[in-house]
Amino acid sequence: MLDDKFKWWQKTVVYQVYPRSFKDTTGNGIGDLQGIIEKLEYLQELGVETIWFSPFYPSPTSKPYSQHDCGYDISYYKDIHPEYGTMEIFDTLVKEIHDRDMKIVLDMVLNHTSIEHPWFKESRSSRDNPKRDWYIWKDGQKPNGKKPPNNWNSIIGKAWEYDPHTDQWFYHAFLPFQPDLNYRNPEVQREMLDTVRFWLNRGVDGYRLDIINSLFEDAQFRNAPFIFKLHSEDSGIFFKSTEMTLNHPDTYEFCKILRATIDEFSDKFLVGEVTASFKMLKNYLGDVSKDGISHDGLNLVFLFQSMNMPMKSKKFRNLMQMYEKWFPYPYTPTWVFGNHDQIRRITKIGDNFNKAKINATLQLTARGVPFIYYGDEIAMKEGKTSKKNSRDAISYHFNWVPQFVRNIVGKYGISVNRDGCRTPMQWDDSENAGFCPQNIEPWLPIDRSFIKRNVQKEEKDVSSLLNCYKKLLKVRRESLALQIGDFELIDLKGLNKICLAYHRIYDNQKIYVFLNFANKELFIESPLSNPKLLFSTLPNKKALDLKKYEGNLKLTPFECVIFK
Ligand code: GLC
Repeated sequence: MLDDKFKWWQKTVVYQVYPRSFKDTTGNGIGDLQGIIEKLEYLQELGVETIWFSPFYPSPTSKPYSQHDCGYDISYYKDIHPEYGTMEIFDTLVKEIHDRDMKIVLDMVLNHTSIEHPWFKESRSSRDNPKRDWYIWKDGQKPNGKKPPNNWNSIIGKAWEYDPHTDQWFYHAFLPFQPDLNYRNPEVQREMLDTVRFWLNRGVDGYRLDIINSLFEDAQFRNAPFIFKLHSEDSGIFFKSTEMTLNHPDTYEFCKILRATIDEFSDKFLVGEVTASFKMLKNYLGDVSKDGISHDGLNLVFLFQSMNMPMKSKKFRNLMQMYEKWFPYPYTPTWVFGNHDQIRRITKIGDNFNKAKINATLQLTARGVPFIYYGDEIAMKEGKTSKKNSRDAISYHFNWVPQFVRNIVGKYGISVNRDGCRTPMQWDDSENAGFCPQNIEPWLPIDRSFIKRNVQKEEKDVSSLLNCYKKLLKVRRESLALQIGDFELIDLKGLNKICLAYHRIYDNQKIYVFLNFANKELFIESPLSNPKLLFSTLPNKKALDLKKYEGNLKLTPFECVIFK
């Protein structure tokens, strides 16, 4: 029954590695593939099953575009950037991951290339170059074409760049050095689908699709209408509608083509990066099959709604209700609290370890696929960033934003400098945290908290966040109910505001999860007369002693328990 109804990716736990920051073995202060291979044992012991890698394909190597968006600016799609390794090492990485019964997911940037990609160089060389139509070129507005073709915005500002050589403008959905490919050109579609097949043939198990919602734009290049909203998830930014440039219906259709392409292989999957309302997100998932057990678009989309969620029981309760409403089986929600673009979750929740444990328990027991960002399991916090020494292209782009404004927007979860969440992994308390040799300067400064927050130290401490993650991952691995079971909220009446309770049900297994969000002891009537404790955030708790509390469960402040 399991095999028919559920695929591996519906019950997996994904861990995101930012290769540049994981482990350096060559002594250049930059993480590499060999370093990842050396740390696979750590990931296996942690208990994650799928590893998603941010891009390690070739990106420009010379200034001013050298690794400008750290790999999200690809200059060749079918190789490994020399800083990270070679194709041979990549093949070893795939083999080592598969030998451990784990899966490997690559990041695929379909929307744009680097401005230094040979395709773009050709494309911009003349108006009649065969690659001209691989990108989106337009004349500027009349009378002299020195104004952009229309009023479109990119995700973060201007959308059009003027190219004096051919006196036309090119479109970019993201930064100016990332020109958009033209998906209305069948040659582009063919080439990119071929790229998708290339790595699948090489053994990868799926892709995370970068800003997939910006693939197609309005074919007539109509102006974006004015809307009466400063910001809305799917209709606009700064009073301007995004309907001409984001979430275009042709993108939904293309997602089905992508799905059909990966389905030429067996057991592959796609997760899309889309920020949008539930209604719009659902469009990316395609239509449900007649037998009701699959859908024909992307397998998963990130649900970023949890990203800035305050640690409040009621808020999560509502969110879970929404997920059940919008993404019931055969859809699978995702649980995302961090990534390489976002301020670290632990920093957002006030650097509070108790809350981090609640967060982890929720992420690993709610219905859906958890995505853990590297370092979150050891409470790595947002590194200090400086505008002056920043490495992030977004920070340059918003160079005019002064530091104090950056600090203020940061409090609202908005990052103008993504260096802070990309600092090197903290392996031990030696200088450079075991990330790179001691006399080398790492590509980004290591956060000083590494002395206390590192893998080596936390492994030895039963009450560490790392050991909490390990135990949760083990409990999840051993329970089909937690992996794929149905989800039901438990009504605790007056206590819902401070305690979130739910169960997961699969066949005749029923697992209970109680999360105490409050800084006070709670006594709650037990739903079972003889509960068996599977997990508590208190490392030494062995059982739920109902007798002692007259049939009640006792939860200490911020405690989470899982029982059956
Ligand atoms: C995505 C990536 C981000 C990158 C951008 C452009 O949002 O997560 O890191 O800069 O797309 O590719």
